[in-house]
Amino acid sequence: MVRVCFVCLGNICRSPTAEAVMRDLVAKAGLSSQIEVDSAGTGDWHVGHRADPRSIAAGARRGFALIGRARQFVSSDWREFDYVLPVDGSNYETLVRGAPSGAAGTKLRLLRSFDPASPPGATVPDPYYSEDGFDEVLDQCVAACTGLLAHLVATHGLTA
Ligand code: 4NP
Repeated sequence: MVRVCFVCLGNICRSPTAEAVMRDLVAKAGLSSQIEVDSAGTGDWHVGHRADPRSIAAGARRGFALIGRARQFVSSDWREFDYVLPVDGSNYETLVRGAPSGAAGTKLRLLRSFDPASPPGATVPDPYYSEDGFDEVLDQCVAACTGLLAHLVATHGLTA
């Protein structure tokens, strides 16, 4: 089993979107028994909440179901996951600061680094205070998760 955790700040907009997209891509590839997908936030304000209604609506328009509840990334997640994928540099830095010595290693990568068309260091901008950033978040997650799935298949020799 390969385990992937997407990480944003609140775990109600960007990382649940990435989780829903990735779960859908993994299911369509017939790899649900081999790739486990989760998400978490570095902050705790929204723990237990459903995803933001604007993210749920943007996902639903494209056939992606955001079904989970927010949780905070915890230290033991470093053991649980093979890939810890923050959406931006701020969350990347928060994860690095909180990681047990040596834990981050090669597990930690910016999500959009898996999108071959995105420039180095590209981030998924926080849509929370925006009017209309949610479709862009979705597009970025689809591109990145498509690349991520190809990476996992190649790296771990997965077959359906
Ligand atoms: P997310 O968006 O990190 O993509 O879930 C945010 C959600 C909530 C807040 C910030 C960003 N907030 O400040 O409460």
